[in-house]
Amino acid sequence: MIAIRNRWWNSMQFAECVMQRYATKKFDTKKIPEKKVEELLDLVRYAPSALNLQPWKIKVVTDQKVKEELFAVSNNQEQITTCSHLLVFCADADYASLVKKLGALMKKNHVPDEVIGKVTGMASMFAGSMTKEQQAAWSQAQTYLALGNALNGAKSLGFDSCPMGGFDPKGYSRILDIPAHLTPVMLCPIGYAADKPAPKIRYDREDIVF
Ligand SMILES: Cc1cc2nc3c(=O)[nH]c(=O)nc-3n(C[C@H](O)[C@H](O)[C@H](O)COP(=O)(O)O)c2cc1C
Repeated sequence: MIAIRNRWWNSMQFAECVMQRYATKKFDTKKIPEKKVEELLDLVRYAPSALNLQPWKIKVVTDQKVKEELFAVSNNQEQITTCSHLLVFCADADYASLVKKLGALMKKNHVPDEVIGKVTGMASMFAGSMTKEQQAAWSQAQTYLALGNALNGAKSLGFDSCPMGGFDPKGYSRILDIPAHLTPVMLCPIGYAADKPAPKIRYDREDIVF
């Protein structure tokens, strides 16, 4: 973890990662070492979330046959079959379980019972005040933050990625046998790019500030 921390402490390097990351359209088929993938998943783990509920789960797909099956429900986008690892970011909307799990994690981390009670009480109340649709949207919004860490994190670890929303979530749930409380939200294929980045087209700072 120290190595990861040191890397992120250097803001110049972070800026470079942000500037150099791009939505890779094709990867070469070279495999990313598992250790690097684990480091990336650690960066994902450290994403912020409301009340620290961490309402996401990531399915990591490496089997080529499975990737080929997924290709058909991903608008036939080549990233799926050429990537090294396909990360399927799923939003978890089972708030009863999320709150219980967070309470247990806090306990394990020696957080005083009084604090655990306050946090889990607040989380239960907040989640309980939402409709199922609102809960799903809340989880999905936070899953995007975890995805952001994966995209920039991949670049920082020396490989490439693509954020992908062009896929059929139901098809993914079926093929990957994803439990009902998890919704596939975004794909993040990772690997070594076999294409070149297109020029960055972005609005000026003045255009995004008002
Ligand atoms: C929510 C979302 C969905 C996207 N879906 C796809 C996709 O299905 N396929 C793809 O090639 N790129 C996809 N992209 C990538 C964008 O097209 C890309 O980020 C944008 O054009 C800017 O280019 P850059 O990321 O290379 O800077 C998606 C990006 C986001 C944030």
